[in-house]
Amino acid sequence: MGFYEVYSHPVLIRYKASVCSRASVFVLVVYVLTYIPPLLITYRSQGFWLKQSSYEEQPVVRFQYEMLMIGVTSVSGDYIAWSTFSNFNTLLGDKLRIPTVSVRESDSNGDGKADRLSLQMSVPLNSAEQIYSIQLLLTFSYQLRRMSVVVMQSMVLVQSSSPVPVSQLFISGDLKLQQKEPLSHRGVHTQYNVSVIDSASPFANSYDLTTIIRKYQERNLTTYLWCPVPLWTVGQAANTPFQINAEIRYPVETITYPLHTVC
Ligand SMILES: *[C@@H]1O[C@H](CO)[C@@H](O)[C@H](O)[C@H]1NC(C)=O
Ligand SMILES: *[C@@H]1O[C@H](CO)[C@@H](O)[C@H](O)[C@H]1NC(C)=O
Repeated sequence: MGFYEVYSHPVLIRYKASVCSRASVFVLVVYVLTYIPPLLITYRSQGFWLKQSSYEEQPVVRFQYEMLMIGVTSVSGDYIAWSTFSNFNTLLGDKLRIPTVSVRESDSNGDGKADRLSLQMSVPLNSAEQIYSIQLLLTFSYQLRRMSVVVMQSMVLVQSSSPVPVSQLFISGDLKLQQKEPLSHRGVHTQYNVSVIDSASPFANSYDLTTIIRKYQERNLTTYLWCPVPLWTVGQAANTPFQINAEIRYPVETITYPLHTVC
């Protein structure tokens, strides 16, 4: 004769003990061990409540062919200058020295993004002039696309001086991004897509490096040149032009962005 299930019901068995028994203490210990260690482990691992994270991206950088150069030619502070801004050049009068400039941007790995800028500048000097110090400002168009879209116009300022007259300045560095705060990982940021220098302005104040830097450093997102050693070559033959050689690489950048936790 075969059997089949007619009816079933679960059975609940309650084990009771007084509050001050060994069984109660054991159950309490089990509860504590179940909840506290996992909390401690996730908290100490730093990975559970991350506030920000980062990703890597090579920016799309383009030299904007805007330059401003100021060279100090004597220990008493005489200077010569040149820029790609005609209003500034007009203000210079007889301090203007027009250099020959050669610029090349190259893409060494063929990914369509420029990897380095090579710039040579040859500044003609009068026979009495010698270079002691150089300030060189270059502007770039800088774009990020991987997470948030950033389009901005940025700059680098190279400033270097020597106690003795020099004939050549060699700069080799990286164009780096400086973030004052994490960049939101979505959206389009174009608020810094404005010129670093107001080239339409006829006023000397607009080309004053103090004014330019003060305004630029107000930004939350800037670029700077990471160049540990600007290299001077000492010794200047009379009537030879002063040479500036710059190699600026556009490396892969680590961009931090905020994580918004859902609670
Ligand atoms: C950024 O500015 C340049 C020049 O002013 C302009 O041609 C370009 O369309 C702007 N890009 C964006 C995304 O606003
Ligand atoms: C820059 O960051 C500060 C601080 O978070 C913020 O208040 C300000 O709005 C930001 N400026 C721009 C232009 O995004």
